[in-house]
Amino acid sequence: MPISFTRENSLFRLTTKNTLYAFDIVKGKLIHRYYGKKAGAVVKTFADEPGDVWSFAPYAKEGEVYFSLDTQPLEYSCFGSGDFRTTALRIKNGAGNSVTGFDYVSHKIRKGRVEIPNIPCGRADERTQTLDITLRDTASGCELHLYYTVFYDCDVISRYASVTNKSGGDVVIEKWMSLALDLPGHNYDVVSLAGAHCFERVFNERTPVFRGNLSMCSRRGASSHQMNPFMAVCDRKADENHGDVYGFNFVYSGSFLNEVEGDQTGKTRVQVGLGEENFNYRLKDGETVFAPEAVMTYSAKGFGPMSRNFHHFTNDHIVPEKAKERRPVVLNSWEAFYFDIDENIMVDFAAAAAECGMDMVIMDDGWFGARVNDKAGLGDWYVNRNRFKEGLAPYVERVKNTGVKFGIWVEPEMANPDSDLFRAHPEWCIRCPERPMSYSRSQYVLDMANPEVIEYLKGMFEETFRGVPIDYFKWDMNRHISEPGSMYLGAEDQGSMEYRYMQGVYSLFKWFRETYPDAMIENCSGGGGRYDLAMMAVCSQIWTSDNTNARTRTLIQYSSMLAYPASVMSCHVSNPHGNMHELDLKYKVAVNGVLGYEFNVLKTPEEVKEEIRRQVREYRTFDRVITDGEYYRLSSPYESDVSAYYFELGDQILLSAIHTNGKAVIGRKKPCTKLAVRTADANATYRDTRTGMTVTGEQLKKGIEIGEFAPDESGWDAKLWHFVKE
Ligand code: GLA
Repeated sequence: MPISFTRENSLFRLTTKNTLYAFDIVKGKLIHRYYGKKAGAVVKTFADEPGDVWSFAPYAKEGEVYFSLDTQPLEYSCFGSGDFRTTALRIKNGAGNSVTGFDYVSHKIRKGRVEIPNIPCGRADERTQTLDITLRDTASGCELHLYYTVFYDCDVISRYASVTNKSGGDVVIEKWMSLALDLPGHNYDVVSLAGAHCFERVFNERTPVFRGNLSMCSRRGASSHQMNPFMAVCDRKADENHGDVYGFNFVYSGSFLNEVEGDQTGKTRVQVGLGEENFNYRLKDGETVFAPEAVMTYSAKGFGPMSRNFHHFTNDHIVPEKAKERRPVVLNSWEAFYFDIDENIMVDFAAAAAECGMDMVIMDDGWFGARVNDKAGLGDWYVNRNRFKEGLAPYVERVKNTGVKFGIWVEPEMANPDSDLFRAHPEWCIRCPERPMSYSRSQYVLDMANPEVIEYLKGMFEETFRGVPIDYFKWDMNRHISEPGSMYLGAEDQGSMEYRYMQGVYSLFKWFRETYPDAMIENCSGGGGRYDLAMMAVCSQIWTSDNTNARTRTLIQYSSMLAYPASVMSCHVSNPHGNMHELDLKYKVAVNGVLGYEFNVLKTPEEVKEEIRRQVREYRTFDRVITDGEYYRLSSPYESDVSAYYFELGDQILLSAIHTNGKAVIGRKKPCTKLAVRTADANATYRDTRTGMTVTGEQLKKGIEIGEFAPDESGWDAKLWHFVKE
């Protein structure tokens, strides 16, 4: 059984395929014991009793100085009760103070998992088990549930929580973390995926843990381009194939806080959750609220297994089952025409997509309301009759007659001030009374915490899309939340607006999925601004970045795969301007994920179209290796002159090497000339379907020469091998 409890020593053991997580109950508190490689029966590590005595560490009972919450490794620490480190939960009680202290009451081991109301979470399978621990704070009158869900096969354990107010009055949750983990020692580095718009998720920094607090967060109301919720804590020598690596992530798309803190006793506290700056929740008597799910994994063999564990978790427990059907190769109108679209252009564009062997055409921004540029029309979800004279349904029928499927762009959470929606309901936007509202891309954010807004949007989409056979929605979000205030919520509930906003967003996603069950949803937020597990749970894939330059994309995609699988990574070949080398480079970079195209193929030379047809045909011969295969990094573009990796599925291996002589690459440059496919079958012979070359598994394992690149003037070139066992 993945979860067990032994009464004699009050020990909980949570096991996955390769890992063990253990804690026990001492004096009503949950004391962390171990997280790491699967170990034998005895699990007592750095928290052996009696604990060390530290001066200035508070203790509960005279004479029991060895037991202090300030020095013990705790499962879940609360504010103000004697632990001076950063804590996971702070509740302001009816008396007005925020001292919080929960004690163990009971526990249950459940089959499956506990669902989180209106927030996506990992899907349980037949092996999934959940430990549900009840704790009570008699002073504040609150009940806390800590949940541990074990996803056995992918070595992932998740943590989430709920608080129920039984105090008879209001309390306020002022800080809330879903996951807390005390690790032995300080000898770690922290790796995060920080970035910026068009430069998302950069994997080239390691920050040593020190005696202080490292905090990585988003205060933007979105998981953000600027700081992804993923983080890893690893030993200082850990690399791709060696060393302890702990990976963490948050299944949530709003503001968050990740913390890593080295303490005086030589321990390191790791926390993931909603944080405190953008979260302050008044909980009424009798009400229950949940903290979203945070996930963790452990690898004893470096970053490679950590990534693969998270890839498995995402593919098997996050991404909707239906998304696993073959993903379409799309042709998107944005970089082709920007806002200048109409029915005839789009029908011709669809015909060109069909001619190039693609599956679907996507009509991006510019089809609705007064939306002919980014200054007007957002919020008015009715078709622009100047551009689509007969309406959507007859136009989409023309598109489908060309032989491709049809996708459409929406940005439900937004309104331009110049829109009928805003003119009718200025109070439906996020704002604070008496305060000016900031613009961003000439738009405001709708108050998705207000159920009336959600119902209005449903009604509008329902009417506009009635009878229109839509196969795909691209759901965008093109600004962050400033002046976080709701005209709908009362004064005491303002601090919960962002959390309720996300619940509103997820409920609208749910409605889309139920109302258009055959349509897939691609997520976008100015590119990869909500590249997070919760969005992956309600969509099929995510637009990785608005930056489609092959050189920057090499870095963004390499980094994104540290935490997320290729199956969700939407990658388009943008305009090669008739340059065949550029087309080849862009293709070989884009095949790292879900392939699509995004430029005006109507105006492209015949030889480019011919090559695109060949690319799409070829991609179909190995797309499953990319979306469903195991992924191995070989060479980092931040550390060497080559970005290299391979995917393996059954008898097939897809190996890529991108020569990165570009200026975009920073860091140390180790030359890379050989690529070793360590997992190849030593007894087999493989044939490269692209060149016909054969090679033994033994040679692949030892490493094959990359050979000469033929870089263009920017210094970049790419190679691709598709090996199939003979
Ligand atoms: C965002 C998206 C783009 C495109 C535009 C349309 O920037 O990332 O792909 O959809 O919006 O306005």
